[in-house]
Amino acid sequence: MSKIVELKCLKHKYPDRTEVSACGLDFLVEEGEKVGLVGGNGSGKTTLIIHLVGMLRPTEGSVSVLGVDPYKNFSKIGEAVGVVVQQVEDQLVGPTVEEDIKFSLINYGFSKNKIEKRTKEVMSRLGIEDLRKKVIHYLSGGQKKRVALAGALALKPKLLVLDEAFNQIDPDGLSKVVNLIDDYCQNEDMAVVMAVSNKEDIKHFNTIYLLEDGKITFKGTKEELEERGGSQFCSH
Ligand SMILES: Nc1ncnc2c1ncn2[C@@H]1O[C@H](COP(=O)(O)OP(=O)(O)O)[C@@H](O)[C@H]1O
Ligand SMILES: [Mg+2]
Repeated sequence: MSKIVELKCLKHKYPDRTEVSACGLDFLVEEGEKVGLVGGNGSGKTTLIIHLVGMLRPTEGSVSVLGVDPYKNFSKIGEAVGVVVQQVEDQLVGPTVEEDIKFSLINYGFSKNKIEKRTKEVMSRLGIEDLRKKVIHYLSGGQKKRVALAGALALKPKLLVLDEAFNQIDPDGLSKVVNLIDDYCQNEDMAVVMAVSNKEDIKHFNTIYLLEDGKITFKGTKEELEERGGSQFCSH
């Protein structure tokens, strides 16, 4: 299996001097693996996640995604990395649901046929065809998350990076999202990393990492996390 993500002792200093670190264990993601990142509020989950997609550069330590430094090479690997950020409004470009889902596919130069096929496939599998012509602005929170997930999944990325992307999605919508993600992991070797704050969501991941006090203190299965009492870091 090939390594998709390798992060070693990440440290980041924000302009206001807040220091965030994720040292201790190395953070590794293999092809096809589904990885959940848990930790309390402010533990650095989002900071770690946005380093993976090249939006921040570490002050110390190293980040490798698909074999390269994502900060320096995002134009090279961008097409292979699907992202849903925590503040999902920040990434939806609209104006309509369908146009938003097509945006990255168009940007990366996919053929017209493929754009239509992929957009149709993700909308149907996520049960959002009815929202096709809807203006993004009027969608509910859970609907926005599903549209952002559709846009990221339409790329059939090698790595899907999600920040609390399941929050607000209703149970029926969530089971569709999880089915599509599982399908791409099994059949397309897609790997997933998600920052998880909702305890219920832990069950969707094979490997869990725990971030606490600036350190990655645990790597293991959800059962091992329960035994250790680490799931207290999630909200319910
Ligand atoms: N842009 C920023 N500038 C300054 N401090 C920040 C910024 N973003 C996050 N932080 C701080 O970094 C720490 C980690 O935040 P974050 O990565 O968002 O944690 P989590 O996602 O686990 O809640 C927190 O103390 C937060 O206040
Ligand atoms: Mg966060």
